Amino acid sequence: MSDSFEYLARETKSDLYSKAKKDRMGFWAEQANQLHWHKPFTKTLDWSAAPVATWFEDGELNVAYNCLDRHVLAGNGERIALHFEGEPGDSRSYSYAELTAEVKRAANVLTSLGIERGDRVAIYLPMIPEAVIAMLAVARIGAIHSVIFGGFSAESLATRIHDADAKLVITADGGFRRGKASALKPAVDDALGENACPSVENVLVVKRTGGEVNWTAKDIWWSEAMAAADAEHEAHAFPAENPLFILYTSGTTGKPKGILHTSGGYLTQAAYTHRNVFDLRSESDVYWCTADVGWITGHSYVAYGPLANGVTQVIYEGTPDAPHQGRWWEIIEKYRVSILYTAPTAIRSFMKLGRSIPDKFDLSSIRVLGSVGEPINPEAWLWYSEVIGGNRAPIVDTWWQTETGAIMISPLPGVTTTKPGSAQVAIPGIVAKVVGEDGVELANEESGYLTIAEPWPSMLRGIWGDPKRFQETYWDRFPGQYFAGDGAKKDADGDIWILGRVDDVMNVSGHRLSSAEIESALVSHPWVAEAAVVGANDEMTGQAVVAFVILRLDQVEAAGSDADVSRVLREHVAKEIGPIAKPRQIMVVAELPKTRSGKIMRRLLRDVAEDRPIGDVTTLADTTVMSSISAKLAAGAND
Ligand code: PRX
Repeated sequence: MSDSFEYLARETKSDLYSKAKKDRMGFWAEQANQLHWHKPFTKTLDWSAAPVATWFEDGELNVAYNCLDRHVLAGNGERIALHFEGEPGDSRSYSYAELTAEVKRAANVLTSLGIERGDRVAIYLPMIPEAVIAMLAVARIGAIHSVIFGGFSAESLATRIHDADAKLVITADGGFRRGKASALKPAVDDALGENACPSVENVLVVKRTGGEVNWTAKDIWWSEAMAAADAEHEAHAFPAENPLFILYTSGTTGKPKGILHTSGGYLTQAAYTHRNVFDLRSESDVYWCTADVGWITGHSYVAYGPLANGVTQVIYEGTPDAPHQGRWWEIIEKYRVSILYTAPTAIRSFMKLGRSIPDKFDLSSIRVLGSVGEPINPEAWLWYSEVIGGNRAPIVDTWWQTETGAIMISPLPGVTTTKPGSAQVAIPGIVAKVVGEDGVELANEESGYLTIAEPWPSMLRGIWGDPKRFQETYWDRFPGQYFAGDGAKKDADGDIWILGRVDDVMNVSGHRLSSAEIESALVSHPWVAEAAVVGANDEMTGQAVVAFVILRLDQVEAAGSDADVSRVLREHVAKEIGPIAKPRQIMVVAELPKTRSGKIMRRLLRDVAEDRPIGDVTTLADTTVMSSISAKLAAGAND
């Protein structure tokens, strides 16, 4: 085996726990020093301006250099960085040298368009190599990317571009999904229409599908700009705390939060966790994380962690069932994938299709399996382990969030004895607690709230443009501790079980959605007077969106039957937010259950949505409301 990756030291994992426990700061400094620093840091953490941390503050580095040039200079330029598999079956591979060359050109393109350090660039692309190239090019010149998932609507795109004041948008004509070309550019045109986002000066357009595109004065073809750009580009060093990206995620209010991450600490933890949680062997592994770069998993475990670690990875454009239901397993067989990182919702849908599909493929290359995004039920865990992992590959159930930037709680292969359904233990260097209402740590077997008790390198540095919301959302509930928004419990062995969100955030197929955001989308329709949205348990998607709406009296006739209302409003939500937010079910009701102070009691609506006996109604202003909702349901008036 080649020893050319010696500069990426492999740690002995059982030592990591004791080292981190003995000297947490020294431990993180050691992890950071696995990166290339143009200027070494002398300070590890400054927490004096809590809750805004600075890590490795006086150090300087270039994130893209760490993910690219460094490997080429160490003699690993020929190693494949990306195997891209397009949905229609086209494929392309980039070596580290080739990817570096592409990113250098793209960095020159950005500079030629006037993008400077600190400027925001919105990226709205399908899962194609250009998405990764664009992210790294933005990072290379010290600008800030804001990747917006391609499934979000024009409205959502506009809100995000506007909030970040993006100067440039990078998009494509479209991408391939479920066997057909699906356009992206029209959503950008809509978002920028009538000068709705005046900060945007240009739009770079990647040609992917070759479909018709409407051309505006701001548009430039990516390929033409790349062809005209200089091939050489020197990576300059930026301070460790230089902002790297903003990623929008749902919170408890209608407005998405722009989570801000910076460079040195983020890359340190993304690379460290990727190496240790997946037991990485950079020289021989073929790694595949199925997440889209539009989510945090695609940032930390497609773009940054794996490339910082110089591994070969696969990226796939499409859906698991196109053109056939064995597509993922075919990809694993083709590239001899050894590490697979995916979400429980995908595993559950494969389980439903049956093992005969994966059994047709050679999955013997798989060595480690990862899970992320939502609790993995023990049944799905066992199926994943047996059918995909051949009972050989350990499963790492990784808990983390957009805000934490990188994995926080997970077993370590070969060290932790895994337990189906539990994310288990904080990784070395992280201090996680389960606390009660008063913020005091609970005994094992008691349910409470998950908190992170000490700052960590890849922690969010704020909410873009909203320091007050940052303080209130994460730090006010349990002073001195980060409140994650999740319920949790430690079992008798001290292993952590995540119990799901304790706020009005839902987790649908591993995607975070806000009740308030969907409610605002519903009430923006002229028929709707009031709406309440809850997440109900769902066998396939973990949770599903269930909405209760009250129609405006003067619109009842126009709206028609409940089935019509449901169909129209589901489409309306897809248009306002994106298809992922479409309610599974919409119930038309005459009243919503409210307390005397006017707060909607979603707990009771969840009982209805989950078909459970309705809980305590004594705090309702009108205790008959729930019986009228139940009576309507029983009468089968809703679809
Ligand atoms: O509720 C937790 C759940 O996903 C939330 C974070 O969502 P997001 O920021 O979109 O990031 C998802 C990918 C990291 C958490 O608050 N969650 C994430 N991973 C797990 C999980 N719940 C249980 N087990 C997990 N492994």
